[in-house]
Amino acid sequence: MTLHAQAGLLPADPERIARAAELLRRGGVVAFPTETVYGLGADARNVDAVRRVFAIKGRPAHHPLIVHLAGADWLDGWARAVPDGARELASAFWPGPLTLVLPRQSRVPDAVTGGQDSVALRVPDHPVALALIAAAGALVAPSANRFGHVSPTTAEHVQAELGGAVDMILDGGPCRVGVESTILSLLTDTPTLLRPGAVTPQAIEAVLGRPVARGGGGGVRVPGALPAHYAPSTPLALHPAADLPDRAAMLAAAGRRVLVLTLGEWIDPMPAGVQCHVLPAEADACARLLYATLRRLDAAGGDVILVQAPPAGSDWDAVRDRLTRAARAFTQPSDDETGT
Ligand code: TXA
Ligand code: MG
Repeated sequence: MTLHAQAGLLPADPERIARAAELLRRGGVVAFPTETVYGLGADARNVDAVRRVFAIKGRPAHHPLIVHLAGADWLDGWARAVPDGARELASAFWPGPLTLVLPRQSRVPDAVTGGQDSVALRVPDHPVALALIAAAGALVAPSANRFGHVSPTTAEHVQAELGGAVDMILDGGPCRVGVESTILSLLTDTPTLLRPGAVTPQAIEAVLGRPVARGGGGGVRVPGALPAHYAPSTPLALHPAADLPDRAAMLAAAGRRVLVLTLGEWIDPMPAGVQCHVLPAEADACARLLYATLRRLDAAGGDVILVQAPPAGSDWDAVRDRLTRAARAFTQPSDDETGT
């Protein structure tokens, strides 16, 4: 089998999607856009292809992958028990940024679930992803970045990080949501939030009519919920807005090249030698630009990135979670505590 690498980035059209599906059916690995982040796709039933995804990412084998489906009508093929709540959530939020963890069907390979008896399932809300899955079958798709790094939200990000390692990159433009899907475990009586995302626990509770537990088990081991994760290579620290100017001035005075990232507000006056970048003060808009901005700052040659700690509101949960994990990568770097 010869799989050919794609030279430049071209928008995904029906012909390229068909070619990508053919590569996937033959065991290839194709990066594709979703509404959250770009995924590193492989046939979820092909164990060799799934192993290649782990190898390309440099991801430990016990970290399970999400299986991406073309519609809620595929649920029963991948989950052996589908509670009413799962169907209600699927009809409310799919296609969309919600992943459901359910008991797996026996056909789901151990390579996908990390040997667990559960499987994570979602239907992405992106026309390119849906066309690709409809043509190729269910796809595993971790974020298309190396293990522990910032997730990609454009095809260019994937090209820069994994370009030589994948068989094809489908370019579907910048991702609309910008942070990974909400993960909800439905394995126990109490639905449990495993990763915050654009679908909030409040929205899930409104559909289910009962409370959702925020974190803590849900009947599964949650490798992706490890403390350190989503990190740029430049050390990153979170500080309350009020502390940022002094902290930045102190580091700059000590000769460090300081990059500051605020949420909506410009630091005034800016300490000498400090570069300031501003993300939107609104949570969804901030999430959309977060990873691209971290990549840009990472390339700016600073010694440290000081980020304004997000406000307390639950609409900031997803952004706060990613930034907190990114910062922890520099305070407690240990092999088993970094993530996908
Ligand atoms: O938005 C997303 O979900 C993106 C796009 C590409 O769809 N994908 C993504 O995949 O974020 P990844 O591999 O980077 O993160 C998958 C997360 C991990 O935290 C993993 O531990 C969790 O899903 N996961 C997968 N299967 C699981 C299971 N059976 N039980 C608990 N957690 C699971
Ligand atoms: Mg990831």
